[in-house]
Amino acid sequence: MSENAKLSLPDGQSLELPVLTGTKNEKAIDISNLRKQTGYITLDPGFVNTGSCESAITFLDGEQGILQFRGYPIEQLAAKSTFLEVAYLLIHGELPNKLQQQSFVDRVSWHAMIHEDMRHFFDGFSQNAHPMVILSSMISSLSAYYVEASGKASIENLELNSARLIAKVTTIAAFAYKKSVGQPFVYPRDELSYCANFLNMMFAVPAESYELDPEIERTLELLLILHADHEQNCSASTVRVVGSSMANVYASVASGILALWGPLHGGANQQVVQMLQQIHDDKAGISKYIEMAKNPKSDFRLMGFGHRVYKNFDPRASILKDACDRLLNKLGTNDPLLEIALKLEETALSDDYFIERKLYPTLDFYTGIIYRAIGIPINMFTVMFALGRVPGWIAQWKEMHEDPKQKIARPRQLFTGQTERSYKPMDDRL
Ligand code: CMC
Repeated sequence: MSENAKLSLPDGQSLELPVLTGTKNEKAIDISNLRKQTGYITLDPGFVNTGSCESAITFLDGEQGILQFRGYPIEQLAAKSTFLEVAYLLIHGELPNKLQQQSFVDRVSWHAMIHEDMRHFFDGFSQNAHPMVILSSMISSLSAYYVEASGKASIENLELNSARLIAKVTTIAAFAYKKSVGQPFVYPRDELSYCANFLNMMFAVPAESYELDPEIERTLELLLILHADHEQNCSASTVRVVGSSMANVYASVASGILALWGPLHGGANQQVVQMLQQIHDDKAGISKYIEMAKNPKSDFRLMGFGHRVYKNFDPRASILKDACDRLLNKLGTNDPLLEIALKLEETALSDDYFIERKLYPTLDFYTGIIYRAIGIPINMFTVMFALGRVPGWIAQWKEMHEDPKQKIARPRQLFTGQTERSYKPMDDRL
């Protein structure tokens, strides 16, 4: 039986609004006809209470710490799956069978090279350019090379364009790193797995081949899986908003990369390690930083803590904490920053400020320590997040275009500026 919510407005109007129920019994009030019927709009800064779409990709219960991709718990995917399998699942809705998996893997390998002309684009960036800028510019430049990427064709050829994106993003990321350290680019190799190929492009040099450690390869696979999607976050919403104007999938994903870069979103992983390093170098102890984070007059925030949706624990953080322990033990690395991170976590989790506000460590709190152990430099951390998130962005973009209710994203505003006034000549102005 359909349910309705009743809305009474100050001007005497009253309205019945349909209540929709998701498959997990989540409730939403459908206000899509509100303005048409009443002239009113809703106001919700940061979209804290606003569902922007119906989605069947990722389920996230922040109170219970549940994350599922297409119904599969993240814990099972993390333990049993490969990144490309998860990418296929997110985009197509089902786990691939053997044949589908093999053809997807082959397709991704096939498309890993970038157009040779694009190599020269890297020359135009300064050596200090942040790799997120390079990544976003290069991904958006891909639109210039593929006619199948323009307008409606971008939707019709999504199979091809998504394989290209998932493949080329690793090559571009590794080339951006090579540029920053002044080393020659290492081309992709078809015989290597997705993660092994990326590690090889990052760390091999002409004088010396890269010796792949299977533990590092598996940990990278895990990291990418954990980052693969996270429903309607800032970058996924950006990809949908940009895509809703019929911008092509490369342009939309390039915008998502830039949204991800911000320190309150994907950029937090770089900030966490910078914060841990600062605490380490300062020697004043962690309590100084806990107090700064609690002080309303200070801008300082405990990076890697707090999430708009997770208000209990981030299941990805629990998986990563174990992976971090395993990898550091295997590599025999004794990272003083891990010790600081563990102390910080313990102190914050027993402090009323953090308990009352339900601020828990997110996956960003541990990723940096793992990346350091693998040898990935700090300015590449957010790029690593982006590599993992590409399939999620593609899945969100695809779902948006397949939704018959889809419209160009165009929010309203409550205007609070000057009402009409007459133009003042320059000489009359103070
Ligand atoms: N350290 C100290 N206080 C915090 C923190 C923090 N990391 N996060 C939130 N608070 C406080 C905040 O000051 C506010 O206190 P009060 O109610 O007294 O004003 C309260 O907690 C609620 O914070 P909010 O900013 O209103 O919450 P939000 O949902 O808008 O923000 C957040 C979520 C992730 C932006 C925020 O928790 C934050 O800035 N965290 C640090 C940055 C970070 O680690 N971001 C990565 C998020 S996970 C990766 C991703 O999905 O992008």
